[in-house]
Amino acid sequence: MGIFKCLSALLVSAVLLLNLPPGLCGCYKRIFSFGDSIIDTGNFVHMSGNGSSRYKELPYGMTFFKNATGRICDGRVLVDFYAQAFQLPMIPPNLPEQDSGRFPNGANFAVAGATAMPPAYYRRWNHSVPMPHSLGVQIGWFKEMLQRLAPGDDDGAKIRQLLNESLIMLGEIGGNDYNFWFWFGDAAKPREQANQFIPDIVAYIGSSVQELIGLGARSILIPNNFPIGCVPSYLSMFFGSSNPADLDEHRCLRWFNDFSTRHNQALRGEVGRLKARNPGAKLIYADYYGAAMELVKHPGRFGIGNPLVACCGGGGPYHTGAACDRTAKVWGDPSGFANWDGVHMTEKAYQVIAQGVLNGTFADPPLLSC
Ligand SMILES: *[C@@H]1O[C@H](CO)[C@@H](O)[C@H](O)[C@H]1NC(C)=O
Ligand SMILES: *[C@@H]1O[C@H](CO)[C@@H](O)[C@H](O)[C@H]1NC(C)=O
Ligand SMILES: *[C@@H]1O[C@H](CO)[C@@H](O)[C@H](O)[C@H]1NC(C)=O
Ligand SMILES: *[C@@H]1O[C@H](CO)[C@@H](O)[C@H](O)[C@H]1NC(C)=O
Ligand SMILES: *[C@@H]1O[C@H](CO)[C@@H](O)[C@H](O)[C@H]1NC(C)=O
Repeated sequence: MGIFKCLSALLVSAVLLLNLPPGLCGCYKRIFSFGDSIIDTGNFVHMSGNGSSRYKELPYGMTFFKNATGRICDGRVLVDFYAQAFQLPMIPPNLPEQDSGRFPNGANFAVAGATAMPPAYYRRWNHSVPMPHSLGVQIGWFKEMLQRLAPGDDDGAKIRQLLNESLIMLGEIGGNDYNFWFWFGDAAKPREQANQFIPDIVAYIGSSVQELIGLGARSILIPNNFPIGCVPSYLSMFFGSSNPADLDEHRCLRWFNDFSTRHNQALRGEVGRLKARNPGAKLIYADYYGAAMELVKHPGRFGIGNPLVACCGGGGPYHTGAACDRTAKVWGDPSGFANWDGVHMTEKAYQVIAQGVLNGTFADPPLLSC
């Protein structure tokens, strides 16, 4: 009943994410999220302690918060829009309040730079990834938090009850596993070799989903990976030699989008198997790739100019001539751009993607169908 009202509000209201009547969409009491810089809301910056980080300063945060918050964006990120749609306050990062927080509305375990696979996985390819806080570490933090929130829960019943009322966002995760290989590659690291990671990464995500279901999770959102061939940093790194045949009809890098598509097909298959094995769980496959491609194919529909250039950065065809930091050039109102800093998207882009996931255009089933 609530959900039908929710969906009809969605159909009639263009600004639905900002002004749904309270209580309409209270499907979940909490959100617990895992991932990387796409949804980190402060863990990475917290870990950097007193050290300097460009993510601690404007123009990061300029749009909505008017201050840097630890989000790697000009404003809100996907988890913020989902929380708003479910009438929840913004979900805090876990690390700043790790030992004392009650986290009544959930916690965000995502850390910028995180990979899906544990760093040790890459040793066999003589490759190293820079961040230790991979998906397994984040799930470890989550299990410690659950023990703290439900002490003396010998049979796990309290935790199952708590998770029964919660939405889990598992990712996007895995993007960095590929990024680090492609970005720091050399002749010894041919890009084709990353194809060998796909089955392992997808299986790891799948076993993480199964582990969370075992703890009592019932509703899990599993997003796929973005079209990396349309990301300004990829375009500037890999279209340097300018072979026009490398680009597709949208002027994105064909090879890299085909690569993301292979990962996504494998992930979709895995989610299908998980659904069959767990009929009592609601597993939602979210097509971030498809939603992001709408911004590339029809930028004008969303008030976006060139979808392949960064809003904040430097010169060059993709505005990636300098890193986005407090001295960088901001090329205009971020709401007119899909990409924020050469790698991450703008609040505007995340809002469009979140709508497509909530209303079901880019999610199976729609996230709002409680
Ligand atoms: C960070 O700075 C504060 C205030 O200057 C200081 O009290 C604290 O010890 C510093 N922390 C670290 C880890 O250096
Ligand atoms: C902006 O954020 C910084 C920390 O990131 C904080 O020290 C400062 O007080 C904030 N400023 C405002 C106006 O909220
Ligand atoms: C691993 O990488 C290092 C540093 O690039 C190189 O010196 C070494 O030969 C590589 N080893 C193998 C087995 O490829
Ligand atoms: C989870 O919630 C549903 C409905 O909200 C209820 O039917 C079910 O029994 C609950 N399961 C557990 C394990 O609490
Ligand atoms: C769902 O969201 C997408 C993406 O923002 C939008 O293009 C579409 O019009 C929405 N559909 C409905 C039925 O609201």
